[in-house]
Amino acid sequence: MSSVKDWAAPNPITENRGGLIGKGVDRYEGRLKVTGSAPYAYEVDAPSRPAIGYMATAAIAKGRIARIDTKAAEASPGVLLVWSHLNAPAQAPRGTRANPRSQRPSNPVLASDRIENFGQTVAFVVADTFENARAAANLVEIEYAAEPGVVDFVASLDQADQPPGEEDVHIGDFPAAYAAAPVSVDETYESPIQNHVQMEPCATTAWWDGDKVTVHTSIQMVKGGQHALAETLAIPSADVHLLTRYIGGGFGGKGQAYDDLILAALGARALGRPVKLAYTRQQMFHGTIHRPAVSMRVRLGAQPDGRLTAFAVEATTHCARNAIFTEHAANFSRNLYAAPNRLTGHRLVKMDLPGAGPMRAPGEAPGMLSLECAMDELAEKLGLDPIELRIRNEPEVDPETGKPFSVRQLVRCMREGAAHFGWERRKAQPRQVRDGRWLVGMGMAAAIRGNFLLPAKAGVRIDADGIITLRQGMTDIGTGTYTILAQIAAETMGVPMEQVKVEMGDSDFPPAPGSGGQFGAATAGSAAYDAGMNLRKALTELAVGDPNSPLYGGPAEYVTFENGNIAIENRSETLAALVARAAPEGVYVEGSISPAADARDYSQHTYGAHFAEVGVDVVTGEVRMRKMFGVFAAGRILNAKTAKSQITGGMIWGVGAALTESNVVDPRYGSFINQDMAGYLVPAHADIVDLDAVFLDEADDKANPMGIKGVGELGICGAGAAVANAIYNATGVRLRDYPMTPEKVLAGMLAVGL
Ligand code: MOS
Repeated sequence: MSSVKDWAAPNPITENRGGLIGKGVDRYEGRLKVTGSAPYAYEVDAPSRPAIGYMATAAIAKGRIARIDTKAAEASPGVLLVWSHLNAPAQAPRGTRANPRSQRPSNPVLASDRIENFGQTVAFVVADTFENARAAANLVEIEYAAEPGVVDFVASLDQADQPPGEEDVHIGDFPAAYAAAPVSVDETYESPIQNHVQMEPCATTAWWDGDKVTVHTSIQMVKGGQHALAETLAIPSADVHLLTRYIGGGFGGKGQAYDDLILAALGARALGRPVKLAYTRQQMFHGTIHRPAVSMRVRLGAQPDGRLTAFAVEATTHCARNAIFTEHAANFSRNLYAAPNRLTGHRLVKMDLPGAGPMRAPGEAPGMLSLECAMDELAEKLGLDPIELRIRNEPEVDPETGKPFSVRQLVRCMREGAAHFGWERRKAQPRQVRDGRWLVGMGMAAAIRGNFLLPAKAGVRIDADGIITLRQGMTDIGTGTYTILAQIAAETMGVPMEQVKVEMGDSDFPPAPGSGGQFGAATAGSAAYDAGMNLRKALTELAVGDPNSPLYGGPAEYVTFENGNIAIENRSETLAALVARAAPEGVYVEGSISPAADARDYSQHTYGAHFAEVGVDVVTGEVRMRKMFGVFAAGRILNAKTAKSQITGGMIWGVGAALTESNVVDPRYGSFINQDMAGYLVPAHADIVDLDAVFLDEADDKANPMGIKGVGELGICGAGAAVANAIYNATGVRLRDYPMTPEKVLAGMLAVGL
């Protein structure tokens, strides 16, 4: 096991002689995507003509199927197969883990007459065409015996319990310190159910070859999907070949396997031919996970100089009865501001809704919508600038654990952001700036998101033509993983990008944990770097041991890799020449990464500061973004273009969270009333007028050998709060119920006499 000290030594990535690290390299797979020739899971060519599946789904929140009649569906044109719980193939009972190393347990489909949520799959049809499958699925007759379900979060808050295995964190004496604090805030903030709304729905193309199944599916975790399918079908994992080459958005919503994977595989086996199955947009809302609603009470007690003496953040959230998940919306607050007396914790309501689960920056994304507004409210009470309040509560060490920070540039993010944004233009008093019918205001918020490194492997080979191929069971969910892995491999080997190929999304490749938790770049990238270093070692031995190499007999420690050459001072040859001569079959090595033994001795996070300027229409209450800007510190940046795209994409989600995004539950059926992109509003280009972000120079040598961290989730953290604070600054209306729709803003303005 390594130590973080070993990571601090200079290496080809930190030296960056080829200049590829940090460069805004174009997307590796960009041409394929923009020309429509990157095959997504549903588009993959099957070995023979595929049949098409379609799911029928439950119309109640809870109960059972009293009667199901599939006769009309079976007789419908082109139908090849109709399954319900009465005749579906046997699968392992839910939660089975026959292979103890499986990363996911079984999750059978059509396993019983029980209905656990609206949109649960209740029948499956396969036909010759999509239209015939869908038409037949609509002919399945079902009578339900409905039971009362819990589907109203706000009405169920009193049923909240401690999440299993968790305790609140008490430090010092919060109640006493809060009672004694001369200035305080005690407010509760509500954020609603939100949805990932990935462009590409979950989809699978499956076929069998004897006992082995090949599945092309849209999933963030290769091994997770492989194991989930193997466990559910009760077959060895080695008999599942899972591929996920291109993914049209994941955001956490594709971190697990869904019914498309199981049913496509079962259908293909039963019919002896390939089967394709995709979720409809409406099914995506109900048949996959969403971000749960969160109700957060924040209590802050401060001294007149702004120092926090009492700090409490308590989050209540919900999940499905049989799929326990806690949105850890208070966790981030444990690392953000100093305060000697602290209370943080979570409560969970079990509901009869579709499953709640991770969505981009789970925890921080809804959590920061509360504390970062409460800090704004406190700053106003204290008569302090919100940035100054945060600076006065900047901790020296992690405020909960006392661990040192690996690197923390939050204050610099706020200061540089303020200067760049023109924060000095902000009026401390709200409702001071008017531009025609618009009230104009500014708000800011801090951003924090954890940094993680997971164990991963990578394989790299060089062939006689000099082409270096990196292989990893990693995924690219649209973030730029192909590109940054190509940059890392090229820079490590000292070759141009054109000499590198990246292949991933295949369960046969050395495993990486996939895309999630903004750990992908650091985790997969560090394994790729290690594989590259091992290849350098192998090629060095090859060269200095080969009498025909100009490097023959040279000291291995002086070997360099640059411009496609291997060299010792002025003795050099191309990698292609070396391999073609000395190892014409090519050279393949593997590498790996795992967290350093002492990595957790440091409090490791990524940070940022958001700045928003809004205009609020005094007549309609409509909020328009005028400007949004952020400064972020997230370790060494691998690719200026893809990193900025991730960060600004996150910021745009923050605008959605603040202004438009919400899934509204229909209390009669436990369904989401808005279940498509017309009803679930995400910001579009016209909503985002002036948006920019910059990164501070940073390298975190406690994070991994490359000093990089993740940026996929940081951008959304705090962004919505900056918008909410700007609305307050514009109007004097303090809303604490997201999203801040024109109706709510208008009602607020009327209430304050505007
Ligand atoms: Mo994520 S929301 O951990 O893919």
